[in-house]
Amino acid sequence: MSVFIRGTGADKPERLLTNQDLEKLVDTDDEWIFTRTGIRTRHLAAEGEATSDLATRAGQRALDDAGVDASELDLIVVATLSPDMLTPSAANLVQRNLCPGLGIPSFDINAACSGFLYGLQVVKSLIDSGTYRRVLLVGGETITRFVDYQDRGTCILFGDAAGAVVLEHGDEAGGLGSIRVGSDGACHDLICLPGGGSLRPPTTYDPADDRADWFLRMQGNRVFKMAVQSMEQVAKDVLADVGWTVDDVDLVLAHQANRRIISAVGERLGVPPEKVPMNVAEMGNTSAASIPVLLDDQCRGGQIRPGQRILMVGFGAGLTWGAATLEWT
Ligand code: COA
Repeated sequence: MSVFIRGTGADKPERLLTNQDLEKLVDTDDEWIFTRTGIRTRHLAAEGEATSDLATRAGQRALDDAGVDASELDLIVVATLSPDMLTPSAANLVQRNLCPGLGIPSFDINAACSGFLYGLQVVKSLIDSGTYRRVLLVGGETITRFVDYQDRGTCILFGDAAGAVVLEHGDEAGGLGSIRVGSDGACHDLICLPGGGSLRPPTTYDPADDRADWFLRMQGNRVFKMAVQSMEQVAKDVLADVGWTVDDVDLVLAHQANRRIISAVGERLGVPPEKVPMNVAEMGNTSAASIPVLLDDQCRGGQIRPGQRILMVGFGAGLTWGAATLEWT
């Protein structure tokens, strides 16, 4: 018995933020951004919409793809660092939208950009244990709401989106294999957003204060190096767990943070570039949404076929990291 992805879905908000738009906001240019990151555009959530709106649409598409009605779900999990509000969770609101009144449990996971991989591990364990049979897992973010459009080091990177999968128990061969996640909280200040939490509650807000506390801030250079190292290691660990060599892998779905990071991880693992698809040029970094959106893109584009062996790998604030193997069915 194993755990299988029965359907995928994504939501990419219509509004686009281009490099040319950013040139009007901060001292930067298209060439610098594209050369350093591989990003051309990012999607922005519509005014008045929040993470649960994107997550609901992605979730419904995954349910349609799987041929499952929302009432047949046993659990809804949303991985996000940008929930609609501190409480209740974004997953509660997705549950209200998709299957109101049925009492289906729901909760969020915050492991930043690694959230989808953490979510896969949690959900797989819950299905393996027999607690639940069919679960909706969404990675969803409206992270641009927390980005400082006066800070050229961060505002060029991020976009909004949601990606979802329906996970189900099954007796056939394949499905999810090894999933490993890790963290190093000693590096928490490399990417963080202190404002609005219990350390810097709203009562401490002072408009004359350092605005950096109220937006996502990052030490990009240090993050870059640690991202490459940790993703390479955790990818090797899960491949060893399932006894795959790098040549056995048909597709690497890496967290879409930066083209140079993704290419460096591919090179270190020895995977040829054609097996490492990217949508970072269109999407930017959509944090927990990035891997499930890429998975959905690949499914819709016909690049994923039964029997293929897929490696997913990601990295994020915390620091956190994770990887998973998947045999597509
Ligand atoms: N446009 C033009 N110049 C910029 C710029 C921008 N948008 N952002 C920074 N610069 C400048 C810096 O001020 C610096 O100038 P200086 O040399 O005069 O001080 C110079 O470019 C180099 O800055 P640096 O931060 O060393 O650039 P970099 O090559 O590391 O690229 C990032 C910056 C953010 C693109 C890169 O570090 C990165 O992608 N890191 C990983 C971030 C990430 O993925 N985070 C999320 C993880 S889930």
